[in-house]
Amino acid sequence: MFKVEGLSYSYPNSAKKAVDKLSFEVGDGEIYGLLGPSGAGKSTTQKILIKLIKDYQGSIVYKGKPLKEYDNRFYEDIGVSFEMPISFSKLTAMENLDFFRRLYKKTVDVEPLMKRVGLWEERDKKAGEYSKGMKIRLNFVRALINSPKVLFLDEPTNGIDPLNARIMKDMILEFKQSGGTVFLASHIMSDVDQLCDRVGFIINGRIHEEDTPRNLKLKYGKKVVKVEYREDGLLRSSEFPMEALKGEEFSRLVREKQIETIHSGETTLEEIFIKVTGVALHEQQA
Ligand SMILES: Nc1ncnc2c1ncn2[C@@H]1O[C@H](COP(=O)(O)OP(=O)(O)OP(=O)(O)O)[C@@H](O)[C@H]1O
Ligand SMILES: [Mg+2]
Repeated sequence: MFKVEGLSYSYPNSAKKAVDKLSFEVGDGEIYGLLGPSGAGKSTTQKILIKLIKDYQGSIVYKGKPLKEYDNRFYEDIGVSFEMPISFSKLTAMENLDFFRRLYKKTVDVEPLMKRVGLWEERDKKAGEYSKGMKIRLNFVRALINSPKVLFLDEPTNGIDPLNARIMKDMILEFKQSGGTVFLASHIMSDVDQLCDRVGFIINGRIHEEDTPRNLKLKYGKKVVKVEYREDGLLRSSEFPMEALKGEEFSRLVREKQIETIHSGETTLEEIFIKVTGVALHEQQA
């Protein structure tokens, strides 16, 4: 869907590159996540991909044609949710959606979407009187209003409660199941873990690591099993390499002790995030 090669960009009056020789691809029907610390260049990359920033270096090809060759019809293809929700505060939620609906040739019925995100009952309330989480949910519905082929989501669940975040994530997965492609910027690990087919770790405008969440966890994780058990009334723990699970020592422990928990020691994406970011920043200082 998108093929990005050697993408670089500096904001005017800034010596530092916000995006620095970035290369990655987003496949058709894939959810690609850009994960990285604050200021890494995630939102800048999104702004470039949606043609908000045009004076970049490098190449971006969308569906086989340079992005620069697309005119405004490109916007029929995409839905965007920005990191700061944007709406007309004096207009009601429905008036906001009606306004955006008029910008597109093809649009969808918003009623099921508004019901799904729990805003239908409050559709006639002014957007300015919405809470932060409500504004974010409204923004998400707006991103879907033109039945896009590609969704750009900049920290979509940031600032909403776990139940609403779950609903939104389900909707994102359904969007993918119906053939949609998603570009997602985030630093919320559980979102990336639950949604993304592949993730790129971006630090200071560069991708330092890229793979499926599962492969990253296997690569960085320790292949061990941690067992917590009771012995003489005290809680103790032991760690076994995976290969040792067939061995006598592990079997004896499980047989003879009162086991409380058993966990395999794959790393969380959060630990990988801290590791990859730490190494990258260290390399830059050296
Ligand atoms: N409008 C702007 N003008 C000048 N510099 C900017 C502007 N927006 C972002 N930058 C700079 O570009 C770099 C990348 O910022 P960007 O917003 O892309 O980061 P991010 O990864 O989205 O961070 P966050 O997780 O905090 O949203 C930062 O150094 C930032 O200071
Ligand atoms: Mg950002």
